[in-house]
Amino acid sequence: MNKDYFEQLLIKTDLSLPAPEREPERQYYFIKKLRGIYTELYAKKKRDLCYHVETYGCQMNAKDSEKLAGILSMIGFKPTDSEKNADFVIYNTCTVRENANLKVYGRVGYLGNLKKKNPDMMIALCGCMMQEEHVVKKIKESYGFVDLVFGTHNLYMFAELLYECMLRKDRKPLVRVIDSSDKIVEALPSEQKYGFKAGVNISFGCNNFCTYCIVPYVRGREKSRKPDEIVSEVAEMVDNGVKEVMLLGQNVNSYGKDFLKNKAAAERMNQAVDFPELLHMVSMIPGLMRIRFMTPHPKDLSDKLIEEIANNPKVCKHVHLPLQSGSTEILRKMNRHYTKEDYLNLVKKIKDRIPGVALTTDIIVGFPGETEEDFADTLDVVEKAGFASAYTFQYSKRAGTPAASYPGQVPEDVVSERFDRLLALIHDTSDKLAKKAAGSVSEVLVEEINAEKGTLTGRMNNNMLVHFEGDEKLLGELVNVKLIECKGFYYLGELI
Ligand code: 5AD
Ligand code: SF4
Repeated sequence: MNKDYFEQLLIKTDLSLPAPEREPERQYYFIKKLRGIYTELYAKKKRDLCYHVETYGCQMNAKDSEKLAGILSMIGFKPTDSEKNADFVIYNTCTVRENANLKVYGRVGYLGNLKKKNPDMMIALCGCMMQEEHVVKKIKESYGFVDLVFGTHNLYMFAELLYECMLRKDRKPLVRVIDSSDKIVEALPSEQKYGFKAGVNISFGCNNFCTYCIVPYVRGREKSRKPDEIVSEVAEMVDNGVKEVMLLGQNVNSYGKDFLKNKAAAERMNQAVDFPELLHMVSMIPGLMRIRFMTPHPKDLSDKLIEEIANNPKVCKHVHLPLQSGSTEILRKMNRHYTKEDYLNLVKKIKDRIPGVALTTDIIVGFPGETEEDFADTLDVVEKAGFASAYTFQYSKRAGTPAASYPGQVPEDVVSERFDRLLALIHDTSDKLAKKAAGSVSEVLVEEINAEKGTLTGRMNNNMLVHFEGDEKLLGELVNVKLIECKGFYYLGELI
């Protein structure tokens, strides 16, 4: 749905009537109301009003931020890349690890200083961190200058909440956080970061309850979007120039399982679709060139999915397969439902069926009870699996998760020493792997221009980046590049 479509909807919205009950019509009603309020403000200030959205965390948050930006643009704000010049600042937060939280508190403190100089500035906080009671309490107590706080389940109501916030009588933070919602409201304006690639939500929430992870508590139970809605959203994106989509969910391979609780009803409504079938349906969209997905869980990565990746030329040959730990005992304590051997067998199966596939992973170091022997198992898997790259994390204790009260919390210095060893090994193995591609030709999607150096950056099918010289007209195009020199995580190449 493009901007004209949303403008038409706004024209049709009648503000003399009460707000509609239906979504997303209700939100357009508030967008139009806010446009009226802000138009008066622009007139007074005699300049554009600017917004700044800062995103922490994963791709799902990035996708949510595009919606926040879309709504603010529709109200009439212009984007700015610094908080300093912004009249409206919104932080979309992450709480997966403690240091992300600390960063947010630091930044909000800084916003408090900016607001002293510009008292009309509005500050909103949303996202996963806001779903935690202790966070909201702290904001109310120590950061009373914040205007609006909302969570992950009511992000689609941003316009309505902002309107409510504008009408409040006091200057205290308006807090609107709900524990859960069965609504999925997607048809909202969105400011896509790139015109040629986009993320698409296929499911929300997680039912896995890995014992270290706070996501199931802040994002709620898993809900899948209807397959036909996903396909029509992607088809429309492709009509508007998108060549590559990334299907997003906390655990993509359990896509559709929630529909199947009532199999007969799901079949009647054409919703009995699993993830490999969804991939296939999306790949049938003419004009779509590449499909990626994030994130599968090793415990239920099916043969059917491996076959779909292997046989479908549009599905990128890159699987992000979070390992978390190589120790079977730690994996059990993490509630991951696979062993070291299961993981390595799965890696072998994927590599056998999908030649040249790139595997990437997430690893946590220092989970409670992790011994040197357990850690050696993690190093062993890294060596055997041959990851193209890995996100590595030091275990972070999250209040409310089972692992927070497990015995054997590992001392910081031990964790950091293991972390460094793991990083060194990953660099080593991924370097060796990357070097093998030197001299070959790869099709890349041109994603960025580096104006200073006059170079372009393209992403290969296997997710690796290559920098090369070329005309900026190639942005968003698929081109062939010869890989000349490996620089570890990226290549220098030549357009051919
Ligand atoms: N501590 C450290 N890393 C974590 N992750 C999730 N929860 C924690 C935690 N408490 C990591 C996992 C996950 C990634 C998104 O973040 O590796 O795959
Ligand atoms: Fe967290 Fe595990 Fe769910 Fe991933 S699968 S979001 S790590 S609980």
